[in-house]
Amino acid sequence: MDFKIRPMRPGDISQVSDIEREAFPTTWPPTSFGKELKNRLARYLVVYSQLVPTAEGSEADILAPVTDLNQPMLHRIFSNLKILLGSPRDVPHWNGHLIVGYVGVWFMADEAHITSIAVREEFRRRGLGEGLLLAALKMSVARRAQVATLEVRVSNHSAQALYLKHGFAKCGLRGRYYADNHEDALIMTVSGLHSPGYQRALREQLGRLDTGIDLSDYPE
Ligand SMILES: CC(C)(COP(=O)(O)OP(=O)(O)OC[C@H]1O[C@@H](n2cnc3c(N)ncnc32)[C@H](O)[C@@H]1OP(=O)(O)O)[C@@H](O)C(=O)NCCC(=O)NCCS
Repeated sequence: MDFKIRPMRPGDISQVSDIEREAFPTTWPPTSFGKELKNRLARYLVVYSQLVPTAEGSEADILAPVTDLNQPMLHRIFSNLKILLGSPRDVPHWNGHLIVGYVGVWFMADEAHITSIAVREEFRRRGLGEGLLLAALKMSVARRAQVATLEVRVSNHSAQALYLKHGFAKCGLRGRYYADNHEDALIMTVSGLHSPGYQRALREQLGRLDTGIDLSDYPE
């Protein structure tokens, strides 16, 4: 499948909400993505695959995850039924895009705060989380942020590995930060986004990505 990154649109909200529910089942209340899209300080990106009808007229790409034999059979069937049944009917502006992940960033003064990042479970470990993070950092550089920061559960080692891989360092702790289980949050930051060295390294990392990034809806 071919993946691309672009700004989130109102027609993506139903699929993005599904991804949020799957990735953060205990988060309450759920994010109001409608409000977030109107928030001048917030920017959201999605990674998607264009669903191209086959010669037989079916959207074969949607079914691709069913063939992932690493997933339990029932899980695969359920996930894909959810996508097949839910998306075209529930999404008001269904545009044939299967949204597989999203990232949100809030910009405050010279800081980019990454509020959330998630990839559909059956599409993880293919570099898409990395693509979203790098796209969010590219957007942060364009908006002249100097620091990017985020909170992550102390138990979330996979997300921490992603952030460490891209230059974030652990720089503090917020005690009992998460309302569901009172887990602590690690604060992770990367600074010097404005430096030529950082921007050169980011360009190189982006160059290695095979995910296209189109941020033209967000001219700065
Ligand atoms: C965190 C998340 C977005 C990563 O997305 P992904 O598409 O699977 O990540 P990628 O394939 O781009 O992985 C990039 C790097 O992240 C790290 N990583 C990702 N998943 C990992 C895992 N399960 N175990 C260890 N490292 C992992 C690795 O360093 C990996 O680089 P590598 O492939 O060279 O080893 C995804 O696991 C997810 O949606 N998790 C649930 C939501 C969540 O926890 N979000 C973070 C909240 S702070």
